[in-house]
Amino acid sequence: MIKFICGKTNEEASVLAANVMADVIKAKPDAVLGLATGSSPINMYKELIRMCSAGEISFKAVKSVNLDEYVGLTPDHDQSYAYFMNDNLFAHIDIDKANTNLPSGLAADPAAECKRYDAVIESMGGVDIQLLGIGNNGHIGFNEPDTHFPKTTSLVNLTDSTIDANSRFFASRDLVPTKAISMGIGQIMNAKKVLLVAFGTGKAEILEKSFFGPVTPEVPASILQFFKGEVVVCADEAALSVIKEKHPEAL
Ligand code: GLP
Repeated sequence: MIKFICGKTNEEASVLAANVMADVIKAKPDAVLGLATGSSPINMYKELIRMCSAGEISFKAVKSVNLDEYVGLTPDHDQSYAYFMNDNLFAHIDIDKANTNLPSGLAADPAAECKRYDAVIESMGGVDIQLLGIGNNGHIGFNEPDTHFPKTTSLVNLTDSTIDANSRFFASRDLVPTKAISMGIGQIMNAKKVLLVAFGTGKAEILEKSFFGPVTPEVPASILQFFKGEVVVCADEAALSVIKEKHPEAL
C-alpha cells in the first residue's frame, strides 16, 4: 500500500516524516532503522534531533544500517556519507555509534565489503523502517537504472545523471566519485515499512513515474509498487504536483 502524505513545504513535510519514524521508535525502542543521505532527509533529521533533545524519543537502543557510501572517500571527507550521517544526525542524538553501520568506501576488496555488509544487514534481523530519498532518475540508495534489480549489496557505477546531480556538493564534477557501494533492492524490499521523502518540482515527474508507471529496473523506485508493507511517501506540494494533476484520487 502506498500512502502519500503532503506537506505545504519541505519543512512541514519533514516534520510529518519525522513523526512516522518516531512512531516506529516509540513502539519499538530497539528498532532497526534503514537510513539515507542526500539533501532530502536533512530537515527530517533536524526534527528527530529536536525530538531527542526534548526527551520525546531516544535512540539509545536503536540500530541503524545506511543505504550506501561512495567508493574512495574517507569517513572524514565532508562529502562521504559516514561524515554526513555524523554531521546531520548521529553526533546530535543519543545513539550508540557502535550500533550504526555504513558500507566502507575504502575497502581494498569491494566485493568482500559487499559480502560483509550483507552479513551486517542479515544480523540485524530485519529493518523496521527504511528511509529513502529518490534520485532524479528514480534511483534508491545508489541502485541506478539497470536491466535488473540488484538483490544484495553491490558495487555500482554511478550514471552521468547522478554524477551531474551530486556534483553540486563537490568543488568540481571530476571530484565526484564514479562508484559507490549500495544496499540492494532486494534488501530494501525486505524492510517492514518504507518512508520515502522527496521535495521540489525536480522530483515531481520521477515520483509519478515511480508510483504510477510500469514497474521496471529502468526506474528502480518503481519496484516499491510491489512492496508488501506500507510505503509512506512524505513530500511537499511541489514534488506531488504531477501526481496531483494526473492521479488526484491518490492524494
Ligand atoms: C544520492 C543518494 C540517494 C539520494 C539521492 C537524492 O545519490 N545516494 O540516497 O536519495 O541522491 O538526493 P537528494 O535528496 O539530494 O535529491
